[in-house]
Amino acid sequence: EGELPIIDAVLTYAPEVPPPIDRDYSAKVRVKMETVETVMRLADGVDYEFWTFGGQVPGQFIRIREGDEVEFHLSNHPDSKMPHNIDLHAVTGPGGGATSSFTTPGHTSEFNFKALNPGLYVYHCATAPVGMHIANGMYGLILVEPKEGLSKVDREYYVMQGDFYTKGSYGQQGLQPFDMDKAISENPDYVLFNGSVGALTGDNALKANVGETVRLFVGNGGPNLVSSFHVIGEIFDKVYVNGGTTENHNVQTTLIPSGGAAITEFKTDVPGEYILVDHSIFRAFNKGALGILQVEGKENKRIYSGKTKYRVYLPEGAATQSIANTKPAPQKVAANKQQRIEMGKSVYDNNCAACHQPTGLGIPKAFPPLANSDYLLKDPNRAISAIIHGLNGKITVNGEVYDSVMPAVALDDERVANVVTYVLNTWGNNGGEVTPTQVKAARK
Ligand code: HEM
Ligand code: CU
Repeated sequence: EGELPIIDAVLTYAPEVPPPIDRDYSAKVRVKMETVETVMRLADGVDYEFWTFGGQVPGQFIRIREGDEVEFHLSNHPDSKMPHNIDLHAVTGPGGGATSSFTTPGHTSEFNFKALNPGLYVYHCATAPVGMHIANGMYGLILVEPKEGLSKVDREYYVMQGDFYTKGSYGQQGLQPFDMDKAISENPDYVLFNGSVGALTGDNALKANVGETVRLFVGNGGPNLVSSFHVIGEIFDKVYVNGGTTENHNVQTTLIPSGGAAITEFKTDVPGEYILVDHSIFRAFNKGALGILQVEGKENKRIYSGKTKYRVYLPEGAATQSIANTKPAPQKVAANKQQRIEMGKSVYDNNCAACHQPTGLGIPKAFPPLANSDYLLKDPNRAISAIIHGLNGKITVNGEVYDSVMPAVALDDERVANVVTYVLNTWGNNGGEVTPTQVKAARK
């Protein structure tokens, strides 16, 4: 194989898209990205600790050509608390690059892949807890242009939807922590284009002139919701369905799966405000999934005669009503230590193994081992506390220093007792039992 010319990728932040590729040959494209954890604005008066590719949500847009070979450099900022990686849906290979790119804070990973299939693809972090990394904003788009290129248009924009879960409800002021319960029940407080309320409205509105062709590269990072993407007042002349090769024409609303994308194209005919929405419409007017394309130019009263302002579409607020809860059936409890260990195994598999691994050996420099952990075995109360309160700051486990964050795991007293007892009696650990009473006391 001959050597390919080496090119540094042009990466852009939303809503900008890198320029079309004018090469007619394959290249080796070097992509350098950095994962950054940073507090930013989610809505007016509301901040959120985002985890990002490149410091913004969505991450930078990558544009390459079918047949290119990519040399990917993923750096994790030294100030990060978490390890991160990248799974690019444009990659053919296990994990889409996830395992090869797993990177602890202050390190850089490199891996290579060949872009075999043209299309618009999502990339995202796939480090445990995967849902949390994606919910915090770790996604973006990579376009693999077909060899023959895409048709020429006047404007190209990058829009990516994501759902966000905060302890407080929509608009509640201040720094809002991530809410895992709402994420699991797929009940977001915010559904957003480009990572914040208003990222595509007011001064940030997308712009075009009458008579221009507009191409939107639209992705959906999820983590949960499927988008019914629609532009109020426009019809998509063309949609590359799911970001693939199939073209659909004359489309009103196009579905964009979580972890999927679409390319939509249309020509503007009359001036005014065109509103980008997720047509699951409460998300648009009550949860933030609303952007504006401002089109300027000459009226054409024959195509459209009326008012051009959609003043009726103002946010309506998001206060909800509730009814009193009924109590769930009582939970099964362990009758003895042996049952505790057995019941603890499934708690471990479901809540701990993603990080500490089914083997209990953890992942070096990222997740400490529980098997023969001197830290754990010295005092099981440390495990109870790590689960119910979370754990962060420097700790030393078997001579290795960890300075990371373990999220609190919302389990009841019984399940905490069972999982710690399981951990204390597995992988050669030396026994012991923790009771729900002990856990209850530790919560104080
Ligand atoms: C630390 C147990 C879930 C990430 C620890 C420690 C224990 C423990 C006993 C103390 C260090 C040691 O002995 O090795 C558990 C149990 C879990 C659980 C029983 C499930 C109920 C998780 C999850 C994650 C995680 C889901 C990843 C998101 C960590 C990290 C540390 C740690 C990063 C080190 C924290 C620091 O550097 O201060 N865990 N863990 N753990 N765990 Fe977990
Ligand atoms: Cu991540």
